[in-house]
Amino acid sequence: MNNLPEKLKKRLLARQASDSLRTLKTYSAQYDFSSNDYLGMGRLQFESKEAFTSAGAGGSRLLTGNHDAYGVFEARLCDFHQQEAALVFNSGYDANLGLIAAVGLRGDLILYDALAHASIRDGIQLAQARAIKFRHNDLEHLEQLLATHMPEDASCYVITESVFSMDGDSPDLEAMVELCGTYKAHLIVDEAHALGVFGTRGVGLVQDLGLQDRLFARVVTFGKALGYHGAAVLGSVEVKSYLVNFARPLIYSTALAPKHVATLELRYQWLAESETSLQAIERLHRNIALLRSCIEKRKLSDYFIPSESAIHTVVIPGNSQVKAIAKQLSELGFGVLPILAPTVPEGSERIRICLHSYNDQESIKLLIDKLAEIIHKDAL
Ligand SMILES: Cc1ncc(COP(=O)(O)O)c(C=O)c1O
Repeated sequence: MNNLPEKLKKRLLARQASDSLRTLKTYSAQYDFSSNDYLGMGRLQFESKEAFTSAGAGGSRLLTGNHDAYGVFEARLCDFHQQEAALVFNSGYDANLGLIAAVGLRGDLILYDALAHASIRDGIQLAQARAIKFRHNDLEHLEQLLATHMPEDASCYVITESVFSMDGDSPDLEAMVELCGTYKAHLIVDEAHALGVFGTRGVGLVQDLGLQDRLFARVVTFGKALGYHGAAVLGSVEVKSYLVNFARPLIYSTALAPKHVATLELRYQWLAESETSLQAIERLHRNIALLRSCIEKRKLSDYFIPSESAIHTVVIPGNSQVKAIAKQLSELGFGVLPILAPTVPEGSERIRICLHSYNDQESIKLLIDKLAEIIHKDAL
């Protein structure tokens, strides 16, 4: 059927013309360097033995969907993340959208990192507050904006990620907390790519730095290192109560099935208590250290964005060029994907390498050897 209105057709054609048309493909690779399953938890089976009265939640949590499993899991989250309250959302996208749209009221100011994830930017679009982005991880710019635009009798929210999804780098969170304290701004940190990776037992970067009591809210997501799906906002009891009343993705959407919530509880239990999770985190960090040393040895540092996280990014400008290099690597069995404009700004197209506890060291060395061969040959 040919029924797409002309204006929409044009948008698709423009995507084709810039070699950035998105299509749905299944992913399989001999060596996985792309999934967000940092600890291999997606490969583990966690089956709750509990007999639930209903397969699905049966409604929004505000109606019939608030099963006991939610309370148990949210208590686990509070304990693991040393936070007063936790509120589960269906996804990280929903959590950011719900939180930001609900708190940013008319007259308020939102300052957000220029590379913030789409879910943060979409939440900002829905919020009524004025929003200004600050240069990526640039605290001087953030301070300038705070000094110039801080509203007198309204709130200011500063939003960042503890590990950036596309660059793998981190802001100076301690300095940011200080700055927000000075200006009485409320700091929100998305920990999607820090959970399971940083801190004792993977508690995240905020807790690793002991900053959990100094934020307005944190977002943790369960589709990355937890290998599942869902997310939570962590904050005070007051923040939770506010979100239960005003976060629309929570109020107007069917809740996660109770068996999924019980499974999430088991996944957190594994992270919190098992010996194997400690080993997985250790293996992940060994792989991160190895990748970093291979990059240096192969003289690729200038092409990579500096990162200590599980995400490492080699910038290869131009959609067609980055696609061609990713294709060469994937034909050799390396599961790496090109990240194209407009997902990232034009000129900063890249291959994003995600490391895992289960990557074997030989494949990491081989990947960087091949990448060096291609890059140095083409002298990008
Ligand atoms: C930083 C960040 N926040 C939020 C999300 C959304 O999380 P979810 O996949 O659970 O919707 C992602 C996912 O890509 C992310 O990278």
